[in-house]
Amino acid sequence: MRKQMAAANWKMNLTYQQATALLQTIISTDITLKENHAVVFAVPFPYLEMAIDTVQHRKNFFISAQNCSDRKSGAYTGEVSTEILKSIDVNFCLVGHSERREYFGESNLMLADKLNLCLASGITPIFCCGEALGTREQNQQNNYVEQQLRESLFHLSREEILKIVIAYEPIWAIGTGKTASTAQAQEMHAFIRSSLKNQYDAAIADQISILYGGSVKAANAKEIFGSKDVDGGLVGGASLNAAEFIEIIKALK
Ligand code: PGA
Repeated sequence: MRKQMAAANWKMNLTYQQATALLQTIISTDITLKENHAVVFAVPFPYLEMAIDTVQHRKNFFISAQNCSDRKSGAYTGEVSTEILKSIDVNFCLVGHSERREYFGESNLMLADKLNLCLASGITPIFCCGEALGTREQNQQNNYVEQQLRESLFHLSREEILKIVIAYEPIWAIGTGKTASTAQAQEMHAFIRSSLKNQYDAAIADQISILYGGSVKAANAKEIFGSKDVDGGLVGGASLNAAEFIEIIKALK
């Protein structure tokens, strides 16, 4: 059964004190999770150890970095390698969030390197893809996303691709309050799955979790997660509020 995942992306928000309080509130709430459910918090680097300690006794709760270096190690001041992340037991890492692509110039090829390093370190990458509004207006979203997959993912072996989580986040829906319709999300998720099937095979495509991201909130999570090919969500703004995020976790199918 595919993993269903509620992943919080805190981005560059919350002080240490606020982050600690938010995490405590969520993990001390009694939420019934199924065996195939996972709750992931992508937190700022300085909070990783605190967050790992806080969730360590809760089954199905995991901590993620929001980014990693595309270099293995060495003289790269300010960068954080996958080896460093692994050495403090980080399990997941976001790779290629659209904000990193847009503001920090991350290319599909650079992201391929990051994915390789995550896998070599035993970290599960959550690979983000998705098109801008202009691309969708020209009805080019499928070609655009397929190119992202081809250039960043499709060099991976069958064993490796099974270790990846994909997050489809249309850029026009991120932080805008504008969610893709359930039909738009399902359509793209089915397209991504069919690309995986063409590149690998149906059994592999069927096992890879594909999250939806872009203005997911308590009020729309159940409907979006209900679609056949949507395996949960990557949540920005609404993950900063305990009550909202708890409802989103409960919306997992
Ligand atoms: P949002 O962000 O939920 O605030 O739209 C999602 C994301 O960027 O991962």
